[in-house]
Amino acid sequence: MLQGKRLLLVIGGGIAAYKSLDLIRRLKERGAAVRVVMTSAAQHFVTPLAAGALSHDRVFTELFDREAEQDIGHIRLSREADLLIVAPATADLMAKMAHGLADDLASAVLLANTRPILLAPAMNPAMWANPATRRNAAQLAADGVRFVGPNAGAMAERGEDGAGRMAEPLEIVAAVEALLAAGGPLTGRHVLVTSGPTHEPIDPVRYIANRSSGKQGHAIAAAAARAGARVTLVSGPVNLPDPFGVEMRRVESARDMLAAVEAALPADIAIFAAAVADWRAASEAPEKMKKDGGALPPLALTENPDILATIAHRQAGRPRLVIGFAAETQNVVAYAQAKRARKGCDWIVANDVSARSGIPGGVMGGDSNEVHLITAEGVEAWPPASKAEVAERLIARIAAALGAKESE
Ligand code: C5P
Repeated sequence: MLQGKRLLLVIGGGIAAYKSLDLIRRLKERGAAVRVVMTSAAQHFVTPLAAGALSHDRVFTELFDREAEQDIGHIRLSREADLLIVAPATADLMAKMAHGLADDLASAVLLANTRPILLAPAMNPAMWANPATRRNAAQLAADGVRFVGPNAGAMAERGEDGAGRMAEPLEIVAAVEALLAAGGPLTGRHVLVTSGPTHEPIDPVRYIANRSSGKQGHAIAAAAARAGARVTLVSGPVNLPDPFGVEMRRVESARDMLAAVEAALPADIAIFAAAVADWRAASEAPEKMKKDGGALPPLALTENPDILATIAHRQAGRPRLVIGFAAETQNVVAYAQAKRARKGCDWIVANDVSARSGIPGGVMGGDSNEVHLITAEGVEAWPPASKAEVAERLIARIAAALGAKESE
């Protein structure tokens, strides 16, 4: 994905700098050339020697470095890159960038830069929430700087948690790939994806749900973004970070999901990976139902709207390619073929979610998947793969199909 790309990584001074070493490795694995600039604060956390060993290049640290200024200099350092990454981007580095300061090599490179910049902020949650940092982040976003993270979670300091953790190296890699994908095979397309379960309320504290993790749908949205598409991801409640560069629509129930999907149209491609609850409570109790007297409360169910079928059967504004998923525990292909016809969609991605599927950890909630792709032309059995690989392959298949349709 990153073959031949030249990336300049600016490492700022924070404990998250150790993750930047792994980031270098991940970027190199994908074929990128990585050149590293470190601030003096960064060198308290990781050494130029370690960064240089991983990047296979010398590491730049000094603004007034006679040797480097003669052969490279801070202007060329930034101009020769396709993209600049700042990870960790400290509050201090962000403040300097927002105000155009350039008193060390890292800030001078960032100021002299004409390429896209991706920041992976990392700092204490109070620093991230501080109005000064909020202003700087807003200014940088207005200047066209892109952000990945920070994520919420435990901090290195004991007892601290909140938004401020640096995005994980693989999230930063995904963000880099998405930024460099302009000109990718889905550039100019709008891809709509549903993901995750839905929650159907019974009363204000209880709901009906299922075991969907959203991993497959989120991976598809991320892969579409990497391929250059504009992506709207309509997601039920999940425990996953937002994929980089997608427009999120968070919903709870199937009815909310349908409304969000309809509001997001028109789209060129719609991929329905959500595990929508088939039924909801016929009526939602306005107050918490009480456990009194031993009588069990009756739970009457009613059917939810079928989002996939509704969109696939639209007369006007139907996406050109409508793709559904089928999770079956037996007769996977036959049931999925019948489902394709019944729902009116173009393709079905079918998987076996039975305990017999042989997928370690199971398909629901797990990281792998083994699917069949069912189209009007027939059935393709895809080999077992990670959900990320299934997503990549599906997006590549979509790009090829649209290209073929257009050249007909
Ligand atoms: O009918 P079944 O739930 O097996 O169909 C699965 C496919 O239909 C998935 O693509 C799912 O996202 C979609 N679906 C939907 N709305 C529903 C039920 C399923 O969009 N209410």
